[in-house]
Amino acid sequence: MGALDGKVAIVTGAARGQGEAQARLFAVEGAKVLLGDVLDDEGTEVAASIGEAAAYRHMDVTQESQWQEAMADVEGRWGRVDVLVNNAGIARFAPLVMTPLEDYMAVIGVNQVGVFLGMKTVVPLMARTGGGSIVNTSSVDGMTGMVGVSAYVASKFAVRGMTKTAALELGSAGIRVNSIHPGGVDTPMLHPEGMPAIDLSSVFTKVPLQRIGTVDDVAELALFLASERSAYCTGSEFVIDGGLLAGFGMGSFGALG
Ligand SMILES: NC(=O)c1ccc[n+]([C@@H]2O[C@H](COP(=O)([O-])OP(=O)(O)OC[C@H]3O[C@@H](n4cnc5c(N)ncnc54)[C@H](O)[C@@H]3O)[C@@H](O)[C@H]2O)c1
Repeated sequence: MGALDGKVAIVTGAARGQGEAQARLFAVEGAKVLLGDVLDDEGTEVAASIGEAAAYRHMDVTQESQWQEAMADVEGRWGRVDVLVNNAGIARFAPLVMTPLEDYMAVIGVNQVGVFLGMKTVVPLMARTGGGSIVNTSSVDGMTGMVGVSAYVASKFAVRGMTKTAALELGSAGIRVNSIHPGGVDTPMLHPEGMPAIDLSSVFTKVPLQRIGTVDDVAELALFLASERSAYCTGSEFVIDGGLLAGFGMGSFGALG
């Protein structure tokens, strides 16, 4: 028996990276999954490889009309929606004073406005079909500052706050809303075009668990929050960072042996 048997899920930004892994795991656990993204070739391929349980559609999360069309699609196909993972996100890397307003607004548009539109559009059907679970993707950068990504940090703090308001407003409708806060996860986001390549495996040996996160690590957390296993969790922050935010370390000072 799957943790999401009989459930219908929407995952945004599901053409690759963490969203792809979540869509794949949700389908394995019994859900029907609508994958949304702006990378249509990749998204179509991922959905086809998952099989009948999945469908892909072009969905730019910044466009309210595309959310509405996606909801009509989901209702027509499967009649309900139980899970929404607002996963789509972008980053732009530059010091604050060198960040063009256009870049700032682009990041806010996808990471913050996209989450707002997702919840706003999906909640009415979710409430009508018995409630559900919304998982909003923030970051460790929604818990603390980070050099070179001012808009990204602002957007991820916003997601963390918006999640709490949504949880307060939607609990009585049987809708739980939580935020997830990944640390470093090895996806294309951390290998931006035009930037010097970084050896992430060596950078992340410095976190307590001594490795970078994987998309499967995060998919397991999203599954927990999407499923009834987290039935009493709402309005909460779930950090998944290998210990990055735990505090300052002293190398092997505290190691056993
Ligand atoms: N990779 C990390 O280290 C890390 C850490 C913390 C949080 N996150 C967050 O995790 C989420 C997933 O990122 P990822 O690491 O898989 O990166 P990724 O770049 O591999 O995936 C992001 C996906 O979002 C899609 N997307 C971008 N703009 C969109 C739009 N307007 N509408 C719909 N889809 C859009 C992209 O096409 C892509 O498929 C993001 O919200 C990101 O901010 C990532």
